[in-house]
Order: sequence, then C-alpha cells, then structure tokens
Amino acid sequence: MEAATAMLVNPSAIERVHTGIPGLDHVLEGGFPKGARVLVAGGAGCGKTIYCGQYLYKGATRYGEPGVYVTTEEPPQEFRSNMLRFGWDFKRLEAEKKIGIIDAVYQRVESELAEQESLQAILYNLRSKLAEVKSLVEQIGATRLVVDSLPGFGFRVTDLNTLREIFLEIGLLLKDVGCTTLMTTEIVEGSGLISRYGIEEFLATGVMVLSLVKQGSPLRKVFVRKMRGTSHSLNDFAFSIGRDGVAIKGPIGVRSVSGGRRRPHSSNGRGKR
Ligand SMILES: Nc1ncnc2c1ncn2[C@@H]1O[C@H](COP(=O)(O)OP(=O)(O)OP(=O)(O)O)[C@@H](O)[C@H]1O
Ligand SMILES: [Mg+2]
Repeated sequence: MEAATAMLVNPSAIERVHTGIPGLDHVLEGGFPKGARVLVAGGAGCGKTIYCGQYLYKGATRYGEPGVYVTTEEPPQEFRSNMLRFGWDFKRLEAEKKIGIIDAVYQRVESELAEQESLQAILYNLRSKLAEVKSLVEQIGATRLVVDSLPGFGFRVTDLNTLREIFLEIGLLLKDVGCTTLMTTEIVEGSGLISRYGIEEFLATGVMVLSLVKQGSPLRKVFVRKMRGTSHSLNDFAFSIGRDGVAIKGPIGVRSVSGGRRRPHSSNGRGKR
C-alpha cells in the first residue's frame, strides 16, 4: 500500500529494501535501493557483522525476505551463537529455509596455499564457491545477501592483480544474483582508505562507514558516504548496540528542528529531518 502511494507521488521512485535497523531507513529515504550492493566498512569490532546479521534476520522474520550469509571470517557456528545473544535464532531460520549460510572460511586456507598457486587455480576454487552461493540463493529464493567479509576472499594474497581478479569474480556473481547485498570490509586505522585494499568500493553502489570513537565516553558512529539513487544525509549518526541489536540514535552535533538548531546537511543540500 505504502509503495503504491509512493509510485503515485513519484513515478520514478526506486523500490526500497528495509534495513531492519531502527532509524536507518529514515536516513536512506526508506531503505537500501533494491538490488544495491552496499559496502559496510569499519575497523575491528565496529559492529559490521551485527548490522549484517540484523539485516538478514529482520528481512526473514519481519519482511518475508529470505537471505544468504556468506562467512569468510568466523565459522558459521560462531556466527549463530553470537547472533543468538540478540535473540536471533538463525538455526531455526535455516531449518525453515528462510536463511542460508555458506561457510567460505576454508577459502582463507585455500588462499593461504594460493601463494604458490597459479591465478587460474585460485579463480577455479573461487568460482566453485561462488556457484555454491548462487545455487543456495536460488534454492531458497533469497533476495538479501551478505558477504562477510570481502577481504576474507583475498586472505594472504599479496599480488594486487590477483586481488583485482578475485573481486571482479565476486562482483560478477553479485550482479548475476541481483540480491540487495551488504559486503563488509575492514578499515585499517591510519591507512586513509575506506577499505582493506582500496578496491572493494568499486564493487559497491553504496558505502556505509562505521566507527568507534573513544574521546571521553565511547561513541559508535555510522556515516552513509554514498548511496546511489538516494538523497541521504551526510551527517554522522550515533548508534548503539543493545539487547535487541543495532539502533540509530540520531545525527551527531545537530539537534532536531524542534530542538532549535539548524537541520543536518543532506547530499542535495536540503535538510532531511
Ligand atoms: N550482546 C551484545 N551487546 C552489546 N554489545 C555487543 C554485544 N555483542 C557484541 N557487542 C559489541 O559489538 C562488537 C562486535 O561487533 P561485530 O562482531 O559486529 O564487529 P565487527 O565490526 O564485525 O568486528 P570484526 O572486525 O572483528 O569482524 C563487540 O566488540 C562489542 O563491542
Ligand atoms: Mg565481523
């Protein structure tokens, strides 16, 4: 009903996918653009995996949208038990075919061996893992996909050309399956980059940067750096990680209009809140 109304108001409106994160849809004109590939970048422990888990869990339970989680970092069992801390029972959703999990942790071991292997051998292994992802997406009719993390696919690979080929293959799969995708990458402090290798962002139609600032009391922040087709705020937003997961608290340093201060800037120069 809401979507139909939006279409009447704006015929070119882009279909939105709810993020499942309280407050974030509002920052993104209703959610991620359908089919977007969003890089979730941040330092260690910033909350990347929790954002992604919440996106999938809420998608499957609240919006009837199945999802696939590809892990290259923590083994599936670790991910399941970390998510259970928020009451998100992934095991049950897997049994109900609403969630699929692909264990790509072994890919790290493969790429460790890859130092001596030819590019062709690396790509052969990668393609078979990506085919597994595609098949699971089709099997459960997933429209949401998470790759956590992208650099995990290039673990111990030092040659930049090989890394480019790896990310190119992943990019092709993501376009092929057409899911609305979140991909995590790590920001190395002091590197001045927004991703581990400075390549990952080229796969993305959107970039969200998470950070944890420790000046006095610790503060978790998220900043939407780019989101194609979306007039989004360029403000930092404070967020919390609590018993129910992640929630956006509000723009930092800017009060609401009723609070008497100026509105936060949005990418098109107009205030959004
Ligand atoms: N149940 C919880 N309640 C509150 N905060 C939590 C809870 N579980 C984890 N956290 C916080 O979230 C952080 C981990 O979040 P998450 O695993 O999403 O980070 P990440 O960015 O994926 O880290 P990594 O770079 O290691 O993959 C912890 O370091 C902790 O600060
Ligand atoms: Mg993580």
